[in-house]
Amino acid sequence: MLARGTLADAMLLLTGATGMLGSTLLPRLTAAGIPVRCLVRDPRRLGPERVRVQIALGDLADPPSFRHALRGVQTVVHLAATVRDQPGGSIEELGGIATWRMVEAAERAGAERFVFSSALGATAHDRTRLLRSKALAEDAVAGSRLTTTIIACSLLHAPGAGLVRMLERLSLLPVVPLVGHGRALVQPLWAQDAADCIAECLRREPRVRHERFELAGPETLSYAALTRIVTGALGRRRPLVPVPEGLVRGALRTSELLLDGRAPVTWDEAEMATVSLTTPRGAADARMLGVEPRRLVSVLGAG
Ligand SMILES: NC(=O)c1ccc[n+]([C@@H]2O[C@H](COP(=O)([O-])OP(=O)(O)OC[C@H]3O[C@@H](n4cnc5c(N)ncnc54)[C@H](OP(=O)(O)O)[C@@H]3O)[C@@H](O)[C@H]2O)c1
Repeated sequence: MLARGTLADAMLLLTGATGMLGSTLLPRLTAAGIPVRCLVRDPRRLGPERVRVQIALGDLADPPSFRHALRGVQTVVHLAATVRDQPGGSIEELGGIATWRMVEAAERAGAERFVFSSALGATAHDRTRLLRSKALAEDAVAGSRLTTTIIACSLLHAPGAGLVRMLERLSLLPVVPLVGHGRALVQPLWAQDAADCIAECLRREPRVRHERFELAGPETLSYAALTRIVTGALGRRRPLVPVPEGLVRGALRTSELLLDGRAPVTWDEAEMATVSLTTPRGAADARMLGVEPRRLVSVLGAG
């Protein structure tokens, strides 16, 4: 369990507390008695935790809101990000540029430590906008004067959330479409295991000024295999039908134009299923942090 330890009584700012990972990490922090402030757009989305934290209304699209949120903060855990353009900003603005601004604001506010969630394989020339924006953000974090920790994750999963939820919906169809051939590889990591790893990073004194962990689950799966496991866990085994990427892109871009921000899936989201999110270190970094990550089947209750 996370103890206050190095965090003492100093305030911790958590962004993305309402997301899959943040909502898993937050109860660990509050249960350990760590004073937490959450930068949120809508506090109601914090659920019961909202009475245990300080709330700073803010938005990645509104950098002035960072200043208020960062007052008196020692540690920033920056998890907020988006894989979909928003009215207030693009994926690049809300991921890359906002992180750079958050780092600058944290430096100015006198914070000491900055923890940032990135993704495996984030490079400036990746085909996906999200991973390119993560590369920009990683540069800003690693170049900062603060003590920093980058947590680069493979695909995160939790029952009823994220990709698992989308596959659950798709499995209601008679066949489940795969973007391309579903050959891209992931090492799925349960959000609870990822949260335990971050909690352990926060508990221990960093060994170097800029540290980086690559967090992945214990198995390497193609998207096709992952889809079979998720649909199998639901008892809905369906034929998987590869759909050419060009066709998926065209159809999703058209629906985005027609539905104006309300499309159930965007091309930027679907494109993530065409890139591999893997590390040759496998689950080694998670184990180094004292976490033995669980296999997808055991989390979904299918194994
Ligand atoms: N999920 C994965 O497979 C995966 C893999 C690798 C890395 N990561 C990274 O891990 C982190 C957490 O991922 P996740 O899956 O927990 O994400 P998530 O469930 O999509 O949650 C995103 C969080 O960011 C917040 N957010 C989005 N736009 C915002 C804005 N404009 N202003 C303020 N907050 C905003 C959301 O708040 P609202 O409630 O207001 O929408 C939510 O709390 C992200 O940085 C993500 O890129 C995720």
